[in-house]
Amino acid sequence: MGNSFLVTTAIPEPGLQLLSDAGRVTVLPDPPDYDALAALCASGDFDVVLTQLRDVIDAPLLAGARLRGVSNFAVGYNNIDIEAATRRGIMIGNTPGVLTDATADIAMLLILGTARRVVEADRLVRDGKFLGWEPELLLGRDVSGAVLGLAGFGRIARATARRALGFGMQVLFSPRPPGDRPVSAAELGEFAGNVRQAPWDELVERSDFLSLHVPLSDQTRHLVDADVLERMKPDAILINTARGPIVDETALVDALRSGVIAGAGLDVFEDEPKLAPGLAELPNTVLLPHVGSATVPVRSEMARLSALNAVAIAEGRTPPHAVNYLASA
Ligand code: DGY
Repeated sequence: MGNSFLVTTAIPEPGLQLLSDAGRVTVLPDPPDYDALAALCASGDFDVVLTQLRDVIDAPLLAGARLRGVSNFAVGYNNIDIEAATRRGIMIGNTPGVLTDATADIAMLLILGTARRVVEADRLVRDGKFLGWEPELLLGRDVSGAVLGLAGFGRIARATARRALGFGMQVLFSPRPPGDRPVSAAELGEFAGNVRQAPWDELVERSDFLSLHVPLSDQTRHLVDADVLERMKPDAILINTARGPIVDETALVDALRSGVIAGAGLDVFEDEPKLAPGLAELPNTVLLPHVGSATVPVRSEMARLSALNAVAIAEGRTPPHAVNYLASA
């Protein structure tokens, strides 16, 4: 019997073609709910399931799964219980690297968009309220000279730093908030002398823009809570292109309403696709529907990598991008 792939949501080419070249492909017409996905994974009909972030692959599902592996169409994999998968010998793949620049572009877009009030400005024009140039119409903030605090200093944070330096921002970073680890000059590479490491508390207190670039984990869930928001500058802006649950969204709505901080640019939400009550009504926010990686070339590369991972797993090889390395594979 050849390889068999389950694709929970159609992916762009060349993904589906690569899978079809390697075996039988079943693409579900609609995203499955948890029980339907669990049943399909337990059926024994598939070697590998190609998943999206909304597909929850937790320990109970994995306990019943008869699969060689899961290939996630994303660099993040907080939807998958990696420990449980590893225990059961189920290989997990992801799509790192290819979406770094696109996601950093969206972080920069949110920095600029919140600073210069782009949503309010766009709405004013569309509502027919633009009556001509005015000295004090929609005054915003300068990005140049402002302090950008990066929570995390991985690929996407570094790409954001590169852009921010080009805009004349001062860049601070905290590599593993809320904890810390020293980053050597060698590790800083091109950034040595241009960016400065700061403890998390200092980052929170000094940033004009605090941008989140950490994976979601038990350590980073609600990293930005009411207490952290309280300690930010009253004119600070929070940027999140990482994962929604890193921010306590209800506390954020309160902070934005009461002027504890000045604004937020969000591409991700705590309970996606739902928004915390009140968030959508706040004028001092720019809200995007998780489009950090949404360019045609990037999604095509993600499709290619996730298909290559799936084929390798089905054929018993270690995938090019393995999240968990299983020596037996
Ligand atoms: C990811 O890959 O983790 C993004 O959130 C979606 O592209």
